[in-house]
Amino acid sequence: MPATIVVGTQWGDEGKGKITDLLAGEMDIVVRYQGGHNAGHTIVVDDQTFALQLVPSGILYSHITAVIGNGVVVEPSVLLDEISMLESKGIDTSKLKISSNAHLILPYHLEIDRITERYLGKNKLGTTKRGIGPSYADKAARIGIRVQDLLDPKIFKTKLEAVAKEKNTILTRVYNQLPIDTEEILDKFLNEYAPKIAPMICDSVDFLHNSLSENKNILLEGAQATFLDLDHGTYPYVTSSNPTAGGACVGSGIGPMHISRVIGIAKSYVTRVGSGPFPTELEDELGDLLVQKGHEYGTNTGRKRRTGWLDAVMLKHAIRLNSLSELAVTKLDVLDDFETVKICVGYEIDGKTTDKMPYHQSDLHHVKAVYEEFDGWNTSISKVEDYNDLPDQAKVYINRISEILSVPVNFVGVGPKRNQVAVIAN
Ligand code: GDP
Ligand code: IMO
Ligand code: MG
Repeated sequence: MPATIVVGTQWGDEGKGKITDLLAGEMDIVVRYQGGHNAGHTIVVDDQTFALQLVPSGILYSHITAVIGNGVVVEPSVLLDEISMLESKGIDTSKLKISSNAHLILPYHLEIDRITERYLGKNKLGTTKRGIGPSYADKAARIGIRVQDLLDPKIFKTKLEAVAKEKNTILTRVYNQLPIDTEEILDKFLNEYAPKIAPMICDSVDFLHNSLSENKNILLEGAQATFLDLDHGTYPYVTSSNPTAGGACVGSGIGPMHISRVIGIAKSYVTRVGSGPFPTELEDELGDLLVQKGHEYGTNTGRKRRTGWLDAVMLKHAIRLNSLSELAVTKLDVLDDFETVKICVGYEIDGKTTDKMPYHQSDLHHVKAVYEEFDGWNTSISKVEDYNDLPDQAKVYINRISEILSVPVNFVGVGPKRNQVAVIAN
C-alpha cells in the first residue's frame, strides 16, 4: 500500500497532530520522520488533551504501530516521560518502535543550544532550546551518537569520550562553562535509559518495507513545517532538519514511489514562534485577537505565538516544495467573529507586485503584503460536521484558497476536538 505524508505548510503548529490523529483511524502505522522534542502536537479526545513531543500522534489508537524514524533526534528522558504520561492515561505504548539509526540528544546539546542563543544576542533564532540544532550538527559532522549505540556500552563510551574531548575544549575555553561529565552521562544513558529503550529499538526501514508489502497503510507525520525547513525555510530562522515531503522519504527510508498522498496542513491564518520574517504579521489588536481566540501559546514552550493573515504566496511555494495533493485548513472557527478576513495574494517589492516568494531573504523581510478581503461569517461554526453546512462566507473563503492554489481543501478544522473537522467529499 502507498504511504501518506502529513506536512506543515507554514511555520509550525498548524494542527498536524490533530489531522494525523484523525487519519490514523484508517492507518496501520504512523511514523515521525524528523525533528525531536521541539515539536508539540496536540490532540483533544473528549475531555482529554495530549501534547506529544516525540511519540507519533497515532499512538492513541490501539491498532496503530507508532515508529520514531531514523530522521528523528531522540532525547531519552523526554521519550520515557512521554511514555509514562501516555500509560498513566491508559494508552498502550507497547507497540512503539524506534529506529536504530535515529540520533540521540545528549545533555551537552541542550547546553550548547542555550549558550549559542545567548551569544547571538539580538540575532538569536528563538530556538526551543531542546538541543535540536547541536544534535543534527553532530550528525552532519559524523560525531553523533545513535540510538543503536545504547545497545553497545563499549562503543557508546568510546564515542562519548572522543566527542567530549572536542566539546570540552569549546565549552570550557570558548563558553566558559563546566566540562561534560562523561561518567554521569554514561551512568544515565547506559544504566538508566538503555534497558528501558532497548526493547523498542528496531530496523525501522526493514519493518516499514515489510509492512508496505503486506499492504499496510503508513502515515508519515511531519513535525515543524515547510518554512522552518533547513533548506527551503527562512534561513537562518529555521530548524535543523527537513520537514518538507522529501525529508519524509529520507527520515523514514521509504522512497518517493511509495508516496501517494501529501496532505499539507495550513492554519486559516498564520502563526510563528521565534525570530524571522513574517510578511502578513499583525502587530495590532487584530493580532492579539487571533492570539486570544486561537489560544496561540506554544504547546511545548508556552511562548506567545506571533500571528497574521493567511499567506497564499507562501502556500503556493509550499505546494511546489512538497508536491501537495491536498490541503487541510485548520482553526477556521478562530475567525468566526472577524468582520473581515484577508488572504495575502501577492508581495509588493520596490513598487512591483509578485506572487512568488523572493529568493533573496532581505526582500522577504521588507515586502508589503497585498490582500484580498472577504466578509466574515459572524457565527459559530464549531458544531458544523458537513462542509455544505458551513456559512456561505466561510465557504467563499475556503473555496478561494483552493482556487488560488489550484489544490483541493479536503478538511476544514472547526474546533480542537478529534471530531471537529468538516470533511469535504471530492
Ligand atoms: P501541531 O504542532 O501542528 O500539531 O499543532 P499544535 O498542536 O502545536 O497547535 C495547534 C493547536 O490548535 C492545538 O492547541 C490544537 O488543539 C488546536 N487546533 C487544531 N485544530 C483546530 C481547529 O480546527 N480549531 C481550533 N479552535 N483549534 C484547533
Ligand atoms: P511543531 O511540530 C513551531 C521553531 C522555534 C524556532 C525555530 C528553531 O509543533 O509544529 P529549534 O528548537 O527547532 O532549533 O528552533 O523553529 N520551532 C517550531 N515552531 N512549531 C514547532 O513544532 C517548532 N519546532 C521548532 O520556535 O523559531
Ligand atoms: Mg506544535
